[in-house]
Amino acid sequence: MRPETAEDTLRPTWSKVDGCFEGLLAPADPTLERVLEANRAAGLPSIDVSPLQGRMLTILALACGARRVLELGTLGGYSTVCLARGINGRPGARIVTLESHAKHAETARANFAVAGLESLIDLRLGPAADSLNTMVREGESAFDLIFIDADKSSYPTYLDLCLKLARPGTLLIADNVVRHGEVANPASTDPNVVGVRRFSELLAVRKDVVSTAVQTVGVKGYDGFVLAVVA
Ligand code: SAH
Ligand code: DHB
Ligand code: MG
Repeated sequence: MRPETAEDTLRPTWSKVDGCFEGLLAPADPTLERVLEANRAAGLPSIDVSPLQGRMLTILALACGARRVLELGTLGGYSTVCLARGINGRPGARIVTLESHAKHAETARANFAVAGLESLIDLRLGPAADSLNTMVREGESAFDLIFIDADKSSYPTYLDLCLKLARPGTLLIADNVVRHGEVANPASTDPNVVGVRRFSELLAVRKDVVSTAVQTVGVKGYDGFVLAVVA
């Protein structure tokens, strides 16, 4: 058995505080609860963003005036619905979301219909890198906000392709870049950790992108986001 970590010890407190702010700032949300219930029923892993993090995605989409959103890694569409809420009603509002797992995609599509958002969302089934390459080749218009949340080992590839689908002012958000703190362990050979670390190294040398990282704790444990804007 592995020894208890600081994260194990602190997680109940983090969850309690998440619950406190959820009650105050993100009250009961029947649509999002139905999404999570459908995901559970379909046996999807419970690795969606947390309710408070979902609100953060809605807020960021609202704040940057986004109309065109790109998401990598749909799962059951919890984060997609949160992003959709931030652009809904704006002219040209549209989300392209990429998912390689057929069961995840099928569950997400059903969830979008239940949420009444299906006309806004274009889910493309297949490896994200293939869909991204197709969009680059076909001259897809730039996206205003890009949320990277698919397989972590491919984040370096995704960064390069996503920047080809961005414009000055595009907001880039990448999930799960802290990995319980492992990102700061240069000896790690976990491909997910290596991927998110390389992602930040590549961002660092992009002088046309202003980037930061925000560590997060809560019901989903210890992780974090990279936030970046193309200058
Ligand atoms: N954004 C979701 C969670 C995504 S979990 C939310 O917060 O609600 C990561 C998803 O990426 C999983 O559904 C997984 O199937 C998908 N994925 C993994 N590898 C992928 C790839 N190469 N291309 C596209 N999607 C991929
Ligand atoms: C994993 C993926 C995620 O997108 C996430 O938020 C948490 C965990 C994973 O693949 O382990
Ligand atoms: Mg994630």
